[in-house]
Amino acid sequence: MKLKDKVVIVTGSSRGIGAAIALGMASEGAHVVVNYNRDDEGARKICRDIEEMGQQALLMQGDVSRAGSVARLVEQTLKRFDRIDILVNNAGIFVSSPMEDVTEEDWDRIMAVNLKSVFLCSQAVARHMIASKSGGAIINIASISAHLPEVNGGAYTPSKAAVIGLTRLQAIEWAKYNIRVNAISPGPVMTPLQRKAYHSQELLEARNRAIPVKRHGRPEEIAAAAVFLASDDASYITGEEITIDGGSRISMFQLVHQLANRM
Ligand SMILES: NC(=O)c1ccc[n+]([C@@H]2O[C@H](COP(=O)([O-])OP(=O)(O)OC[C@H]3O[C@@H](n4cnc5c(N)ncnc54)[C@H](O)[C@@H]3O)[C@@H](O)[C@H]2O)c1
Repeated sequence: MKLKDKVVIVTGSSRGIGAAIALGMASEGAHVVVNYNRDDEGARKICRDIEEMGQQALLMQGDVSRAGSVARLVEQTLKRFDRIDILVNNAGIFVSSPMEDVTEEDWDRIMAVNLKSVFLCSQAVARHMIASKSGGAIINIASISAHLPEVNGGAYTPSKAAVIGLTRLQAIEWAKYNIRVNAISPGPVMTPLQRKAYHSQELLEARNRAIPVKRHGRPEEIAAAAVFLASDDASYITGEEITIDGGSRISMFQLVHQLANRM
C-alpha cells in the first residue's frame, strides 16, 4: 500500500482518466474525494467502488473553475478528513472549432476549466499544506497537445501548454514547503471526451494506425503514473512532466526528420 490513509482530491473523477486515478489511488490505500461537475451517476458509482475497496470516499459536486466551489471542496475535505495529502488537477474540457471561428465564450470556458481551475485548486490546497507543514504532492493533467498543436481545438492547446508552465512555477515556489508538483501529459486515451472526436470507425482506426503502439491508451495507464508521482517512490521528482502517449510525441519528430530528409 503506497498511499495508506493518504487523503486525495481528484477533480473531474466521475469518469474517464479522473475515475481511473481515483480508483488507482484507493487501491493503494488512499481515501478519495470524488469531484465532478454534472455526471452524478458516474460519480456515485466511483464512490461505491472506492468504498468496496475498504477506503473512504467523499462525493463533491462543484465546478472547479469557480473560486467559491473550490473553497467549498477544500473546506468539506478538511471537515471530513482533517488533512489533504495529494491533489490531482484532472478536470478538463475540449471544444472543437477552427481558430478563426473560436468564440470568446468558448475561449474563456476552456481556459477557466483547463487552466484557472489548476491555479485555484492548487492554491487552496497548497495554503493548507503550507499552514499545516505537512507537505504533499500535486499532479496536474496536461496533454501532449501542449507540444503538438491540437488542430481545430481552439483554446485547448494554449490551455494545456500553460498548465505545463504553471506546474514548473508551482514546483519551484513550493519546493521549500515540501510540496512536489508534477504534470502528466497523456496522448490519446479512450474516454468519453476522446470518443467524441471520432465520427466514424474508419477515423478511429486511422488514428490507431498513426500511434506507434497501434492503439489508444487506457485510463488505468495514466492512473499508474499518477499513483507513482503521488507516492514516496517519486520523493525527489518535482517540476517534471511525464508523457504517456504510446510513442506519439517522438514519432512526430521522426516524421519531421523523414520529411526533411526527402527535401
Ligand atoms: N482522453 C484523452 O485522450 C486525453 C488526452 C490528453 C489529456 N487529457 C486530459 O485528461 C483529463 C481528463 O480527460 P478525460 O478524457 O477523462 O475527460 P472526460 O470528459 O471523460 O471526463 C472529464 C471529467 O471532468 C469533469 N469536469 C468537467 N468540467 C468540470 C468542472 N468545471 N468542474 C469539475 N469537474 C469537471 C467531468 O465531470 C468528468 O468527470 C482532461 O484534463 C483532459 O484534457 C485527456
